[in-house]
Amino acid sequence: MKSISLVINGQNVEGAVEPRMNLVDFLRDHRHLTATHIGCEHGVCGACTILIDGVPARSCITFAVAADRAAVTTLEGFEDDGVMNTLREAFAEHHGLQCGFCTPGMLMTARDIVTRFPDADEKRIRTELAGNLCRCTGYVGIVKAIQDALTKLKTSPAAAPAKRRIGPVGSHPSAVRKGGMSTAMSGERTPIALPSAAGNENIDLVDWKAVEREGVELRQSFRVPFPRVDVWRFFSDLDQVTRCMPGARLTGPVRDGRAEGQVAEGQVNVKLGPIVSAFQGVLASTRDDSNFQGVVRGAGRDARSPSSAKATISYAVRAPDSLKSEVDVTVRFVLSGALAQFSRGGLVKDVADHLMRVFVQNLEARLSGKAPADDVAQTLDAGAVARSAVWARIRSLAAKLMGR
Ligand code: FES
Ligand code: FES
Repeated sequence: MKSISLVINGQNVEGAVEPRMNLVDFLRDHRHLTATHIGCEHGVCGACTILIDGVPARSCITFAVAADRAAVTTLEGFEDDGVMNTLREAFAEHHGLQCGFCTPGMLMTARDIVTRFPDADEKRIRTELAGNLCRCTGYVGIVKAIQDALTKLKTSPAAAPAKRRIGPVGSHPSAVRKGGMSTAMSGERTPIALPSAAGNENIDLVDWKAVEREGVELRQSFRVPFPRVDVWRFFSDLDQVTRCMPGARLTGPVRDGRAEGQVAEGQVNVKLGPIVSAFQGVLASTRDDSNFQGVVRGAGRDARSPSSAKATISYAVRAPDSLKSEVDVTVRFVLSGALAQFSRGGLVKDVADHLMRVFVQNLEARLSGKAPADDVAQTLDAGAVARSAVWARIRSLAAKLMGR
C-alpha cells in the first residue's frame, strides 16, 4: 500500500492505496464521489473526466498514486459554481441528456470549453467535445446547450469563468504549491501539509524497499570492446557515467557518503510532449570490487510538473574475453505526478531502449577518448523517442504486409 495526500474538491485527503488502483476507483469507492462515472475504462469515452490541477484528465487511466500532491476536482466540487450551474440549466433546457451516463464527463469538458473558448463556434465545440462519447442524444442538444451557456455567460458577469492558459496536466506550475496552498480551483482553499516540492531528496529517508517492490523493472545488456578492468574503472567515476546519460548531469561535487559509497547532487532533464521537467535530486553509488557489481540509487523531484522519481540501477560487468566486456543492467523506478504516464509499458520500453543505445555510444566515445570529458548532456525528449519508435513499428509492419 502507498500513502497519498491530495486535495479533493478543496478538502485535504489522505489515503492508502494499492499502486495499481485507478484514481476513479479511489474517488468512487474510497471517497464516495460517485458523480464521476466509469464507462470504457480505457480513456476513450470521457465519462470519468475530472480536473487534476485544474486541467481535464481521465481518472480511469490515472493511477491514484499519480495524483499524490495534486488538486483534484470532481463534479461534486462545482456545486456552487456559476459556470457549471449555467451549463446544467442549459443541458436540461436543450435536451442535452437522456440516460445521463455521459453527462458528468460532458459537463466537466463543457466547462473547460467555455472557460478556454468564450467565442467558440459550433465547429470548435464539436472538435473540443470529440473526446466525450454519448450513446443517446446524437450530440445536437449537447452542442446547443454549450452554445446557449456561452451566450448567457457573456451577459452574466457574475458567472463568467476565469480565463486560464491552455495545456495538459503538468504543463503549468503545480496547483499545490510549496507552503501548502492549492490554487487549482477558484476560491479559498485549505492548506495541505506536504513535503518540500522542490528540495533535494534526503537519500537516507527514501523508501528503497518500496522501489524494489513496486517499481517498473527494465533489464538491458550491452557489450563494449574494452577490457573489464577499464570499464569497471570508468564506472567508478560518477561524474563521467552521469554524462553518458541523455539529460543527466551532476550539479555538485562527488562526496564519500557514510554507508552509501559516493554521493552527489544531480539533475535530469526530461521532455514529454509539452511537459518539460528538471528533476533535482541526489545520487548514491556503492560498488563491490571483488564481484564487479554496483548499485546507483537516485531520487529527485521536479517542482514544475510536479513529479517525483526514484530509481535503483544495478549493474554487473562480465568479461567474455580479455578484450571485451558485457554489462548487465537492471533498472527499477517509480514515477509519481504528471510524468507518471511515462511509466506506461510500451512507451517506457521504447525510451529505455533508446537511452541504453545512447548511453553505450557515449560510454564507448569516452572510453576511447573521443568525447571531451566536459561534454554537456542534452535533455531527454521521451516523447520524440516514443513517436519515432511508433513510426519504426508502422514502417516495419507495412514492409511485412507488402512482403518486403
Ligand atoms: Fe474513462 Fe471512459 S471511463 S474514458
Ligand atoms: Fe446517455 Fe449520453 S445521455 S450516454
